[in-house]
Amino acid sequence: MIVNFTTGLVHAGSNRLLTHHTPSLFCFAVFEEGDNFFRDEVIDVKTNIRVNSTTHELSLDSRLTLLDALRDVLGLTGTKKGCDQGACGACTVIIEGQRVLSCLTLAAACEGQHVVTIEGLAKGEELHPMQAAFLQCDGFQCGYCTPGQILSAVCAVQEVHAGVPSHVTRDVRQTVNSATLTDEEIRERMSGNLCRCAAYPNIVAAVRQVLANELRS
Ligand code: FES
Ligand code: FES
Repeated sequence: MIVNFTTGLVHAGSNRLLTHHTPSLFCFAVFEEGDNFFRDEVIDVKTNIRVNSTTHELSLDSRLTLLDALRDVLGLTGTKKGCDQGACGACTVIIEGQRVLSCLTLAAACEGQHVVTIEGLAKGEELHPMQAAFLQCDGFQCGYCTPGQILSAVCAVQEVHAGVPSHVTRDVRQTVNSATLTDEEIRERMSGNLCRCAAYPNIVAAVRQVLANELRS
């Protein structure tokens, strides 16, 4: 397939799949001969996403990120937009048990998946232990990064329980153990979440408190 990048006109060829640039990421789109590569038309995709245990049947612009779908379509503004390019972690959500940057995830790609945002972490009035630990340890100042920090920390603890090593694990042949986890390990596992208020020591303390409480119970 040949694209005239002056006119955007697509000419005949064998490959119909091209990368198509959006403000925040590259995605794929199908083009036919005679299409315009720079087309502006919206292609809606029917998408079923379960968010915090509620299923939503949505018709979404195929280029919409999960972050924008959560905030602008579903009104779940607890998920924050920081850099919008995968560098700060403010937009972290949990998809099928894994922490994911929602600014780098297309909403339409979440068809049939379960997304947990900060709004879905507490059980009614009862805070999740990680939320309670952030409060008790003063793990935030302005709070902008905090939803992403908390969701990331929840998954970091799950990864420790699963024995997943990190970049600073001294010996990857030994199972990671929450009882002997160093602060360096916690910092490394949380290094994808930036905090402009530099609440890092208290964030580490909050994660450590959750691990310690789990060991006691
Ligand atoms: Fe997604 Fe910064 S907003 S990583
Ligand atoms: Fe302000 Fe982290 S608490 S950016």
